[in-house]
Formats: sequence, C-alpha cells, structure tokens
Amino acid sequence: MTDIIIRNATVLDGTGSPGISADVAVTGGRIAEVSPNGITGSAAHEIDATGLHLSPGLVDTHAHDDGAFFRYPGMEFKLAQGVTTVVSGNCGFSAIPADPDQDSVSASGGILAGLEGEFTDLAGYFAAALERQPAINNMMLVGHNTVRSIVMGMERRAPTADELRQMRDHVSLALEQGACGFSTGLIYRPGRWSETDEVITLASAARDSDALYTTHMRNEGDRLLEAVDETLTIGREAGVHAHISHHKAAGVANWGKIRSSLEKVDEALAAGQRVTLDVYPYTAGSGRMIEYFNLDNVNRDLAEVVRIASCPAFREYEGRMAKDIAADENRDVTEVIHSILTAPKGDRTICIHFIIDEADVETNLAHADMMVGSDGIPDLRGKPHPRLFGTFPRVLGHYVRERGILSLPEAIRRMTSLPARVFGMSERGQIKTGYWADLLLFDASQVIDRATYDQPQTEPAGIRSVIVNGALAYQCAGGDEPGHHTGTGTGKMLRYRRSAYGEAT
Ligand code: ZN
Ligand code: CU
Repeated sequence: MTDIIIRNATVLDGTGSPGISADVAVTGGRIAEVSPNGITGSAAHEIDATGLHLSPGLVDTHAHDDGAFFRYPGMEFKLAQGVTTVVSGNCGFSAIPADPDQDSVSASGGILAGLEGEFTDLAGYFAAALERQPAINNMMLVGHNTVRSIVMGMERRAPTADELRQMRDHVSLALEQGACGFSTGLIYRPGRWSETDEVITLASAARDSDALYTTHMRNEGDRLLEAVDETLTIGREAGVHAHISHHKAAGVANWGKIRSSLEKVDEALAAGQRVTLDVYPYTAGSGRMIEYFNLDNVNRDLAEVVRIASCPAFREYEGRMAKDIAADENRDVTEVIHSILTAPKGDRTICIHFIIDEADVETNLAHADMMVGSDGIPDLRGKPHPRLFGTFPRVLGHYVRERGILSLPEAIRRMTSLPARVFGMSERGQIKTGYWADLLLFDASQVIDRATYDQPQTEPAGIRSVIVNGALAYQCAGGDEPGHHTGTGTGKMLRYRRSAYGEAT
C-alpha cells in the first residue's frame, strides 16, 4: 500500500518551472507517482494540500551542524524551516578527521560543540551520528582548519612537504568516504597562516572525485575583491568547482562592493569556470568573537555593532549589545570586549555583528547562481543569531513574497535542485518519480520567519508538513498552532554523488 498521498498540491518541482496542480504519492521512502490528473486508491496517510505548495525539501548549503547531529538529533531548528538536508563542515571546521587525544571542540572555538564518540574518520562519524537517529540528512565537507590543526597544531608557518602530504591524505580519505568537498575558513586560525599554494594543493585532492572547494574567504571587507580573485585562482588551479560561502561586503566602507565581486564571478562563469555562492538573508554576521578582534587594539567601530549571542563567561550578557553593557557598567565598549575575551572560556564567546547592507542582501539573492545557507551556529544555550531558526522562511516570505526579489519557483530552485546537483545529493532536490521523498508542504501566503534577535529560538509560520526520506517528520496545522515534530528520525548521512552511508551503492 502507498505510504502517503498528498492531494491537490501546487507542485513546484525544484527545477524553476511554474507550479502545476498535482497529486504526489510516496512509498518506501521515494516519490512513487506525480500525477496532474489525480491519483486513485488510498494511502496509509492522506494529506489534503488544497491551497498549499509542495516543493522538494530545502537544502541548507552552509551549516555548522557537525556536532548538532549528536546534541540535537531532532534538528528542530532546521526541520521546522522545511530543511531536509544540511551541508556541514563549513568554514574549514569539520568533525573529521578527529584525533581522540585532541579537543576538536575547543580548536573550533565551540563551533563543533556536541561531538561525541570515538570516531577518527568520516565513516566513523557517519556511524556515530546515525545511531542518534537524526531527523534530517547531512552531507559533509572536510575542513582545512581541522586538518591543519591535527597535522601542524597552531604553527604559524607553511607546512613541510611531509606535513602537506599528511594533510592531503586526510582530505583524500574523507572524500573517498563520501565528503562532498574541501572547505576553508581563511579568516580563522590556523587557516589564515596558509599561503594560496597550500590551499591549491589540498583542494586539488577533490579533483579526482570532481568534488567542491568551498570557502569562507580570507577577507570579506576591505580586501574582498582580492579574496574573490584568490578563490577563483584556487578553483582554476586545483581544477575544481569553487563555492563562495556567505558572500558579503562587511563594514559600511565596503557596502556595494559585492556588485564588483559578482562581476568577477560572472566573468569566470563566462570563461567556463564552475562557481557558485551562498548567502544568509540578514544584515548581521555571527561567529567566534575572538576571531574578529585584535586584543592589543580592539576595533571600536566593530565593538559598537556587536551583540553577545552566547558567552560561557558572562551568561548575563547574552542577548545584549556590547555598547549597552558598557553604558550600564560605566565602562568603555572596547574594554567590555577585552574583558569578555580574556575571561576564562572567553574564547568560546559567540557574537553577532551588524556589518552588512540590506541592499547587498537583495543584490546577492537576485543572482542566478546564489544558493541559501543559514550559517547558523547551533548553540541553544544563549541567544543565537535568528538565522538558525529563520533563514529559509525569511527568503520565501520576505524576499519572495514581500519584496519580489525573486520568483517563488526560482527561490525553490536555488534552495533545492541547484544545491542538490552541485553538492552531489543523488536523487534529491526535485519532485520526480523515483527520487527520495524529501518534501516540504507550505502556505506561500503565510510563510515567514518569526525568529528575532531578541527571541531567536522561534519556529517560523506557514510550514505545514515536512517529509524526510518518505516519513512525516514535521506537521503544523497552520495559523498560530505550534508545529509538531514527530521524532521519526529518518535522516541519512549522504555521500557525494553516491548512495547514502550504509546503503548499497
Ligand atoms: Zn564562515
Ligand atoms: Cu560558516
């Protein structure tokens, strides 16, 4: 018998084609039938989708959920947005390779918090994560910062030939085991101490499997354009697809520069190079605070626009602007930043910084090769950036419906078939007979984010049903009704252009 039939939906198949009215049947984890003429017979579970849109489940191309699969296997903050697959291991920080004798969590400044278990490689990570029965699918990158710190610690120099070979071996092993690419975070330690040649050598390990090079570039502000040039050079020299993460121009003096960097991308595309990008739909960034400040000379302009997200040293500061803390305590804002960062566990502080121009967010979203990535940091103890809970409904509700920056079918394409193809998610990203049944049913007239900087842990509105590998994972009656997470736990660990981990190839 058929597992699920969704009737009378407006189906957006993920290719960018306009919606068509159809019924969709799901059996054995896959899409069994898509019929504009209606499907006869019945199913164990029937959903009347009159007035609603059905799309493939959304793909979050920029996640830091490596540890979240252990700490929060229900992945509520992603599932409630309609996200059925994330790409983890971004910005050069990945769960693997792991050395049981080293603390990868602190090396990542807390970005990988939650990791547990004795794994050392990707296959081991996949097995350990699957034991938690995660709610959604995960695709992994192998990160430069992680690989470099395992091989070289925090050495501020170029690797020896032997160290470079060891790093490359780690990258190759992860790719063999199913990683979709190699990621860098060249603004962070220790990646920032690498020369372009080192990155080219490591990224070229991805050439054999035709996998990706993804990057949090060396600079996203004053030297944005030089950083884009470096990225394009790395992609070209390594012979791999280059993907620019969270494309932005940081700092008022640089606003608008992304037009020039998108021109560089367009020129590279016209010359036949493979390049894509992603963006988060907010004007604030977020990350480990210690990476943004020089303790010897705290940048006042940046300190003025910083808000504390999570802060193990001073929990009472969470959710507050540094300048407000300074005013209350009658201190200078730079001194507040300094004292937070030098306190015990101060280096684990996550901040939110308002550095991006709204017009740039719209320019980014209008670009045809722009995907969407939340860049959410899944630490639920403080006041995380609202992008963790709101990114995708914000694109659909605010930028599509309210602002008209892109059409609904195009937005769905950018969040489904485009990332599924580029990040090698086999038989996903489209509503097509035989494909895996990762599906999202939503109300296009209601969908919107509700997470704010003050109340960031708020699920969005308008997401009605989410199906992961053929099982109903999330359901909401609409209106102000709270959503229900079914706990079905059918997420898989995906391997680049192959079957999922643990499944026959
Ligand atoms: Zn990043
Ligand atoms: Cu990131």
